Amino acid sequence: MINSNMKIISSMSEMKQWRGEGGKIAFVPTMGGVHRGHLALVELAQKKADRVVVSVFVNPAQFGENEDFAEYPRTLDADLALLAGQGVDCVFMPDVREVYPQGVDAGFEVGESGQILCGKTRPHFFNGVAQVVRRLFAIVRPDVAVFGQKDYQQLMVIRQMVEAQALDIEILSADTVRESDGLAISTRNQYLSDEQRQVAPVLYSMLDELRRHILAGGDIINLTKQTRKALEKHFKIDYLSVLDANTLSAITGNTGKIAILCAVFLGSTRLIDNIIFKG
Ligand code: PAF
Repeated sequence: MINSNMKIISSMSEMKQWRGEGGKIAFVPTMGGVHRGHLALVELAQKKADRVVVSVFVNPAQFGENEDFAEYPRTLDADLALLAGQGVDCVFMPDVREVYPQGVDAGFEVGESGQILCGKTRPHFFNGVAQVVRRLFAIVRPDVAVFGQKDYQQLMVIRQMVEAQALDIEILSADTVRESDGLAISTRNQYLSDEQRQVAPVLYSMLDELRRHILAGGDIINLTKQTRKALEKHFKIDYLSVLDANTLSAITGNTGKIAILCAVFLGSTRLIDNIIFKG
């Protein structure tokens, strides 16, 4: 269902006008580099609302000084073609001044859940994400917003932000979309060399093996140690943690859902992945 009338807008006032045309609105924020994972978010959004808006904005606030803001894939023509092909109603691609008229707020606070796991290596990251999502929510004023489970910690931080600020927006998540060999689809996969691309799926297969051993009743601490050793043969590990999926804290007798969360470096490319399952 190609939408040849897909609206492309870049200002807050145009968005206000489009928004005012009514109906239930679902929002999918992206930084572009659109791939099948994003299209799955759009598909879920389409089921939940009358109209779907996707934003394309490479958010400077979530990149650290030595990170890939300049290199981040900007593939606007291809993105627009894919989004129109998926039947998206509107693409919002604001200018940085539109999003941050008063500049980026370095002190934007997301609390503890933004400081663990990815937040340890990328201390600026979740403040930047929460800040841009808060701002985009204020401009788009969606009823529903959809995020990928691939970025599980991001999803949790956004849910907490929505709760803390009492925003009337339903946050939905869509399952991680994978290549046929298991690698979680990500815009940054294009940084991998052919050789690294062959190695990358080992990450998911080892996390899945860990999940199977946990379900078989093995000791989580020992199993995690073994998986870390196995991963080290292929990657430089940033973190590997097995936590309560609802709280992102240590597993207790009350844990109903377990999260295996991992970030590794393959060369200079950082890959993240997770598996969430009933414990
Ligand atoms: O997941 C992403 O692509 C980004 O972190 C998001 C949510 C669009 C905010 O810039």
